[in-house]
Amino acid sequence: MAGMNRASYAIAIVGEMRGRFITFEGGEGAGKSSHAAMLAQRLRTLGIGVVLTREPGGSPGAEIIRHVLLSGAAKPLGPDAEAILFAAARDDHVRQTIEPALARGRWVISDRFADSTRVYQGTLGHADPKLIKALERITVGDLKPDLTVILDVPAEIGLSRASKRRGAAGADRFEAESAEFHEKLRDAFRMLALAEPNRCVLIDAGDMRPTVAERIWKVVSDRLDPATAPVALEDVAS
Ligand SMILES: Nc1ncnc2c1ncn2[C@@H]1O[C@H](COP(=O)(O)OP(=O)(O)OP(=O)(O)O)[C@@H](O)[C@H]1O
Ligand SMILES: [Mg+2]
Repeated sequence: MAGMNRASYAIAIVGEMRGRFITFEGGEGAGKSSHAAMLAQRLRTLGIGVVLTREPGGSPGAEIIRHVLLSGAAKPLGPDAEAILFAAARDDHVRQTIEPALARGRWVISDRFADSTRVYQGTLGHADPKLIKALERITVGDLKPDLTVILDVPAEIGLSRASKRRGAAGADRFEAESAEFHEKLRDAFRMLALAEPNRCVLIDAGDMRPTVAERIWKVVSDRLDPATAPVALEDVAS
C-alpha cells in the first residue's frame, strides 16, 4: 500500500468489505431502542460507520406504513393483512436503507426486524405460517442478520417501563394488548433464541442499563470482533 494515505487505504479496504448487520428484538419496554443507540455510539468510538435504523420504518416509504400499523388502523384488516403491510415496509427498508449501507461497509443496527413479524403476526397473531415464510423470503431473502440480540424481561417489567416512558400518551397498537399476550410474546422470543443459537443471543435485560449494555458489548465483541473492522471513510482525515 506504498504511496497511499490513510484515507485511500481505508477506501481500498472498505471497498471490498461488507458491513455487519445487527438486530435487536424483544417485547415492549425491554430496552431495544436504548441499547441499539448505546451500541451504535460505542461502535462509532472505534471509528466504525454505523447506520442506526428501526422497524416498522427506517426509510421514508416505510415510515408512512409505520404510522398506519402503530395507530391500529390496520388491525381490523386481520393478521394476514397486517403481516403484508409489515412486509411492504420491510421491503422498502431493506432496499433503500439496509442493503446500500452494508454495501458501503457500514454496520447497520436495526431496532426490530423480521423476527418481530415471525413472533407478533406469526406466533401470536396466527397469520398463516406459509404466508409469513413467503413474505420473509421475498423481503429479507439472504439478508440474515449477523447477530440478533433478543432482550428478555418479564412482560410486567417491560410494560411498566414502556408506560413510564410514554407518560400521558396512549398505548400504541401492540402495547395495548393484554398481559397474557405480552407473556406469550416473551415465550415466543425465547423459543426463537433456542431455535437459532448461531444467529440469536438471549440477553437478560432485567438489570440496570449499564449491566445490560456490558452483556451486549461482550456478545458483540466475541462474535463480530469490531476492534478489527475497517474504519469509516468519513471519520478518516485525508
Ligand atoms: N435496564 C433498564 N432499567 C430501567 N429502565 C430501563 C432499562 N432499559 C430501558 N429502560 C427504560 O425503559 C423505557 C423503555 O426502554 P426502550 O424504549 O429502550 O425499550 P424498547 O424495547 O425500545 O421499547 P418499545 O418496544 O416500547 O419500543 C425507556 O424509558 C428506557 O429508558
Ligand atoms: Mg423502542
